[in-house]
Amino acid sequence: MEKEILKKNFGIVYKSKKMRDLIDIALQVAQSDISVLLYGESGVGKEVFAKVIHKASKRADKPLVSINCGAIPEGILESELFGHKKGSFTGAVDNRKGYFEIADGGTLFLDEIGEMPLTTQVKLLRVLETQEIMPVGSETVKKVDVRIIAASNRDLQKEVDAKRFRQDLYFRLKAVTLVIPPLRERKEDIPELVEYFLKQYSEKNNIPLPELTRDAMELLMDYPWPGNIRELKNTLESAVALSKDGILDSEAFLPLLTSRQIEEDPRHLPVHVHKSADSMDREMILGALIEIKKDLNELKGFAYKNQNTEINNPEDVEMEEIIPLDELEKNAIKKALKFTKGNKRKAAQLLKISERTLYRKIKEYGIS
Ligand SMILES: Nc1ncnc2c1ncn2[C@@H]1O[C@H](COP(=O)(O)OP(=O)(O)OP(=O)(O)O)[C@@H](O)[C@H]1O
Ligand SMILES: [Mg+2]
Repeated sequence: MEKEILKKNFGIVYKSKKMRDLIDIALQVAQSDISVLLYGESGVGKEVFAKVIHKASKRADKPLVSINCGAIPEGILESELFGHKKGSFTGAVDNRKGYFEIADGGTLFLDEIGEMPLTTQVKLLRVLETQEIMPVGSETVKKVDVRIIAASNRDLQKEVDAKRFRQDLYFRLKAVTLVIPPLRERKEDIPELVEYFLKQYSEKNNIPLPELTRDAMELLMDYPWPGNIRELKNTLESAVALSKDGILDSEAFLPLLTSRQIEEDPRHLPVHVHKSADSMDREMILGALIEIKKDLNELKGFAYKNQNTEINNPEDVEMEEIIPLDELEKNAIKKALKFTKGNKRKAAQLLKISERTLYRKIKEYGIS
């Protein structure tokens, strides 16, 4: 498949031979129903690969259901996976479909499979072997047709040795194993990724494409990227949101890079960077920064125009430049609410006022 198509349809960008080879294998195995095990550090693109395999398979028009086995409490994981019958346990007020049934005909992506409790592993293996599920509390089985893609950032062989992972399930899952290398082992991909993310971000926010200086690119090439592609993407977005003039030099990046040991041997670096606890908030703050930047640019343009049309004393102020404070306030509230899609808690945070004050002012100004 052509690189451009991969970029357009799957959002996957690369240059290195390592990635090209991996993508070839992924596209090849996509055609069969064989299980695939994806290995790789946090942020290398395991989920992206799961999507590629699903979308290139004959199951593409059926659902791809992703589950993070580490994030679902042990007690409810089985009912989440296999469903449950009404009344099978306290809280089971209705029959509920499990992810296997929801993904029927499609693909189930089991992320962080190494975190799955041993008891659930036994049941999962049985489902894979029989293609039948038995919802919790039910006595009858249901046929399901689901393709499994699993991912782990731990070595499952080691988990098997430590008796934390069942060997039979491991054998079943690892039919095809793809190891996605960390970004620092395929640095040739960095320039293409940078270009892709900058373009994507500026289009999304409707701002001019930022310019990256040579020293900045050198810095990005040298950095070991412990959080891999996710870290690269987040770093670029922050740098753009914080930049004043749309030019990104190395100074713009230095404060953003989490691992300062740029010159050190990457093998000694901590390689565990977790997703930010609240990436929604992060996106919102960056979005707000971009909005402010755009407003500032508009103001600058306005000031510039005024300067050129009238020979004004800079100290002089025109009557119409003065906007009543309540109007400014009303506008700010409207903008914040629009930006947070009506979420008052987040809007209040952005406006740096209490939620209660926000409610009062909404009423006062009659904002709907
Ligand atoms: N080759 C790539 N081209 C473009 N974007 C990519 C590529 N690989 C990953 N990304 C992007 O990087 C981010 C992280 O990717 P993804 O979520 O697939 O990583 P992951 O390995 O599942 O991470 P984690 O272990 O933390 O769940 C996503 O925003 C994804 O779109
Ligand atoms: Mg993931």
